[in-house]
Amino acid sequence: MQGCSIVFLALFLVACDLQLLSESELSDQNQSQDLVPHYAVASAHPLATQAGIEILKQGGNAFDAAVAVTSTLAVVEPYASGLGGGGFWLLHVADTHQDIMLDGRETAPLASTRDMYVDASGNPTQLSVTGPLAAGIPGVPAAMVHLAENYGRLPLNVLLNFSIEAANNGFAVSEHYQRLASARMATLLRSPQAAAIFLDHGQAPSSGYILKQPQLAKVLVSIRDFGRDGFYTGEIAQKLVHGNQQAGGIWQLKDLEQYQVIERQPITGSYKNISIISAASPSSGGIVLMQMFNMLSMLDINELNALERTHAIVEVMRRAYFERASYLGDADFIEVPVNTLLSMPHAEDLLADYSSQHATDSHNYLRETNMLDDAVLQEGQNTTHFSILDQAGNYVAATLSINYPFGSGFVPAGTGVLLNNEMDDFVIKPGHPNLWGLVDNEANAIEPGKRMLSSMSPTFLDDGNRTAILGTPGGSRIITMVLLSALEFANGADAETMVALLRFHHQFLPDQIQFEMHAIDAMTQTSLTSMGHTLKERQHSYGNMQTIIWDKQMGRVTAASDPRGIGDAKVSQ
Ligand code: GLY
Repeated sequence: MQGCSIVFLALFLVACDLQLLSESELSDQNQSQDLVPHYAVASAHPLATQAGIEILKQGGNAFDAAVAVTSTLAVVEPYASGLGGGGFWLLHVADTHQDIMLDGRETAPLASTRDMYVDASGNPTQLSVTGPLAAGIPGVPAAMVHLAENYGRLPLNVLLNFSIEAANNGFAVSEHYQRLASARMATLLRSPQAAAIFLDHGQAPSSGYILKQPQLAKVLVSIRDFGRDGFYTGEIAQKLVHGNQQAGGIWQLKDLEQYQVIERQPITGSYKNISIISAASPSSGGIVLMQMFNMLSMLDINELNALERTHAIVEVMRRAYFERASYLGDADFIEVPVNTLLSMPHAEDLLADYSSQHATDSHNYLRETNMLDDAVLQEGQNTTHFSILDQAGNYVAATLSINYPFGSGFVPAGTGVLLNNEMDDFVIKPGHPNLWGLVDNEANAIEPGKRMLSSMSPTFLDDGNRTAILGTPGGSRIITMVLLSALEFANGADAETMVALLRFHHQFLPDQIQFEMHAIDAMTQTSLTSMGHTLKERQHSYGNMQTIIWDKQMGRVTAASDPRGIGDAKVSQ
């Protein structure tokens, strides 16, 4: 199947390319080749990387490739992202030197209410996690069309071709797919459509099973032929709304009609020799990341030993996640005091109770809460990330999600579109932890049309000579993963080191240092415990980082895909 797809795509693209690129465009492209020696794609699935590389090979730019990779991931990683989900695409436009965040985050349905997931006794229900009520209005289809129409150079019939082929002809599922389908089996079985598509006769398909998604292919064809309208109005929209309502959901046609992608200014800042560009509201990523960097710049961690360094980093993580819980939400709905939060005097205030000898107790800041139940979230392999660099110097870092593995587990009849469960990223009940153990407050309360707070952090780093394009899935742990890798980048690390780095994490509540096996040695663990920290070693690794580094001084491009995942990073020859 793969071979056929590639040959077909290559022939098709060659044909289109000859017609589509004018002479001046081709000459621009040749000039630009002096600028960046190679193009590169790193994504969480080899077929998605292949789709992006093929588009770049045929003269598409990084934004074209981003559309092809997004749509292919929607087919081959249905547990992680998809047409029924959302995401953030961080764009660098070489011509104008602009950095833009394309916000395709889901919105709360217009009929949603603040307490819709709380029962009569005031207890949270499972409805924010499973089934049609859990789904926000998707942004991925609108974002793909926006990217292609405003930044790309190839038409949708080229960009979506690979994904349509993969959906129609099928792809071989991995062991990773099998594990996630097993973990979410009970939920998938509740939706006959989802079970029929994503399971094999009611069981998790074994590795190598060819998963075909003809209905999803039809939706992709509809987007290819009618653009945004092919999803948000007309027959597909009617099926999505009807299927959602029939099963107890609250979607209306106007939810889809009114959905808008939004271009936003990313969060920017610096730490030592590196400049940082990352996701803005409704992601907490950029703000939390910069707050951690601001505090770290006052602690000079390069001068510290391993124990002191881990303690210092954990303490800034704790404080930044407290700020996340207190102040962050959709800035179109609430006042987020971004300038104050990112100011150095504020970082100084946050460190006022910092001790280099003792752990701070998170409960000094807030009430007692439940601990994260991570029975299913062992691998942090929900969500997905890809990075792309083209030879004109455009680049994209995109993190996309349907939230939990296989999202809500619900597919509206006749669409093949698996809906997200991002509504759980809102605060369901103030003080109650969500799936990621995050305890938010009123700033992130549900309102019709509002976007739920995210941790997705597509990020660019630059040290003057090298640019890194990176990001990872991993729920609430995304931001600390990006922080740890950025700290390594600041010390000169390469892409492979950044993605393979062992990880530790603190998110204010639960008040514990979570860490991957071997991330903290035994002696340091003992010392951290005696300083008052609670440690929790995770039985499984987490994250799936994809990084590209463009070294302008050395004229070199390198890319790496996290060894924890099944992804692929490719640099053109
Ligand atoms: N759904 C996970 C996030 O957006 O942070």
